[in-house]
Amino acid sequence: MNHKPLLLPLLDEALKRGPLEPADVAAAARATGLPAAAAWEAVRFYPRYAATGERWLLVDEPVVRSRNFDSLLNALERVALAAGVESGTVYSYGLEALGPALVVEQGAERRVYAPVDEASLERLAAGAEPGPAAGLLPRELAGGGWLLEDPPPPPQFPGAGELIASARAAGLRGLGGAHFPVWRKLEAVRAQDAAEKYVVVNGDESEPGNFKDRWLMEHNPRLVWTGAALAARAVGASEIVFYVRGEYEGALERVEAARRELAASGYLDGLETSTFRGGGLYICGEESALLESIEGKRAEPRLKPPYPAEAGLFGKPTLVNNVETLAHLALVASHGADAYRERRPKLFSISGDVAKPGVYELALGTTLEEALAAAGAGRARAVLLGGAAGTFLKLPDAAGLPLDFEAPRAQGDSIGPGALMVFDETRDLWAVAEGVSAFFAHESCGKCFPCSLGTPHLHRLVWNWRRGQRRPELLHELAQALEQGSLCGLGQAAPWAVRSLLERFVEVNR
Ligand SMILES: Cc1cc2nc3c(=O)[nH]c(=O)nc-3n(C[C@H](O)[C@H](O)[C@H](O)COP(=O)(O)O)c2cc1C
Ligand code: SF4
Repeated sequence: MNHKPLLLPLLDEALKRGPLEPADVAAAARATGLPAAAAWEAVRFYPRYAATGERWLLVDEPVVRSRNFDSLLNALERVALAAGVESGTVYSYGLEALGPALVVEQGAERRVYAPVDEASLERLAAGAEPGPAAGLLPRELAGGGWLLEDPPPPPQFPGAGELIASARAAGLRGLGGAHFPVWRKLEAVRAQDAAEKYVVVNGDESEPGNFKDRWLMEHNPRLVWTGAALAARAVGASEIVFYVRGEYEGALERVEAARRELAASGYLDGLETSTFRGGGLYICGEESALLESIEGKRAEPRLKPPYPAEAGLFGKPTLVNNVETLAHLALVASHGADAYRERRPKLFSISGDVAKPGVYELALGTTLEEALAAAGAGRARAVLLGGAAGTFLKLPDAAGLPLDFEAPRAQGDSIGPGALMVFDETRDLWAVAEGVSAFFAHESCGKCFPCSLGTPHLHRLVWNWRRGQRRPELLHELAQALEQGSLCGLGQAAPWAVRSLLERFVEVNR
C-alpha cells in the first residue's frame, strides 16, 4: 500500500463499537494524516456516521412510486408513531425487482425486507419479522448468459498490447452509463509515466432502477476481480480498490470473499487489493467524487480536466471502470474479441409491470419490444430507460427501438447502465417523476449552485404539477438551466425524465 490508512474504513471500525465519539474521529484523523477538521467534514457528509437509534425506512424508488408509495408511507408513519420509532424513507437499494422494501436501521446495523405491504408494517410494530429478508438478491433473479453463469477459469494475462487491442476489436465500452470506449481509457492510463497507478472498480450503483451490478457483485464477483486484475496488469497499476456501494452489505462480503479466494490462487500476485465500503450517497458513483471519498473527503466531483487517467486517486493515474465493464473485459480475454463481438452481451435490470422482473443478459441491439417480451410485459405504456437519470419512452411508439449504444442516443435517449422500468396504463407517470425529482434534490452534493438550487426547484414544480398547478414553460427553462449549468452528470441529467414526460406523453399532461 503506497498510501496511509483510509479514513472511512477506520470510522467504520469505530462505528462497530457504537456511535462515533470525538476521540474516534481524532484517532482516525491522526492515522490517516488528515486534519481533524477534514475528518469531521467527512463524518458530517456521509449519512451512516449520523445513525443513532432505531429507524424504520421505506425504500423510495420509481416502481413503488408508481404503485402504493403514499399509502405504504402513511401506514409506516402511523405504526412507527404508535411504537415511538422514527420513520422515513431511504433511496433505492437495488430491490426494484422484489417489490416494496423496508429497511430497519438500528444504529450502524440494518436489516432489509422485501416485498412488504401494509400487513408487514403491522407485524413489524408487533415485534415480528415484517417480511422476507432481502440481504442478498436471489440468484434466480437472473437467467442464463456469459455474465450470469459460473465464470470460466481466469485467463492468462495476454500482454498489455494484446488485451487493449482485443478490447478495441470487441467494441467494448464502459457500462456504468457513459459508454466510453474501454480501450481508450486503458491506453490513456498505460501511457502515463508514473511509478504508482491505481485501478478502481466502481460498484457504487446507487441510481434507482439499476441492480445488475448488485447481482454481479453478489453472485459473480470473481469475474469482476479477474477483469480488474487484467486491467491492472495492462495499465501497469500495482493496486486495485474495489468500491462497493455502502448499503450493499451482502455484496461487500461476497466481493471480499472472492478477493481472498482469487488471491489464494495466486492470480492477484504482485497486486495490492482491497474492498472499500462506499459512502452511501448517489454522488459517490461519479468517478471523481468516488476517488475523493476513498481519500476520506466529501464526495464532491472534481473539476475536469485533469481526468482520473492523468491525476486520479492520490493524484496518481487511475483507471476507473464499472463492475460490469471489468467483467466484460475478463470475458473478452477468455472468449476472444470475435466471439464477444458476435454475442454483444449486455446486462439489463428489468422491473415494474412485467411477469418476471430480474437481471437479463441480452444482445445489444435487442429491440425494446423483444426485451419486454423476455421479461413478460403485458400492456406496457411507458418505460423509464436507463434509470432515474433516464428518459420515458412511449409504447407502442418505441417498441422497435434497438437497445444499443447508438440508436437511443440518436433520438436523445440512452440505455445508461441498462435499466428498464416498465409501467402499464394504470400507473401515474407524474408520481414517478415526482419521486425521481425528489431523489435528485436529495442527492445533489451542493458543490455548484445550478444543481443545488435547481433540483429542489424542479421537485417543487413537479409536485405542483401533480396538484394541478402546471407550468410547462418554467419546467422547460429549468431543465435547460440544469442541463447546461450543472457541474456534473447528476445535475445535468436531473430533468431528463420530467422533460421526456412533458414531450412524449401529451395525453397525461392535460
Ligand atoms: C451522479 C453520477 C453517479 C454515477 N454512478 C455510477 C455508478 O454507481 N457506477 C458506475 O459505474 N458509474 C457511475 N457513474 C459514471 C462514472 O462517473 C464513470 O463514468 C464510470 O465509473 C466509468 O466506468 P465505465 O467507463 O466502465 O462505465 C456515475 C456518474 C454520475 C454523474
Ligand atoms: S451538479 Fe449537483 S451533484 Fe454535481 S457537483 Fe453540482 S451540486 Fe454536486
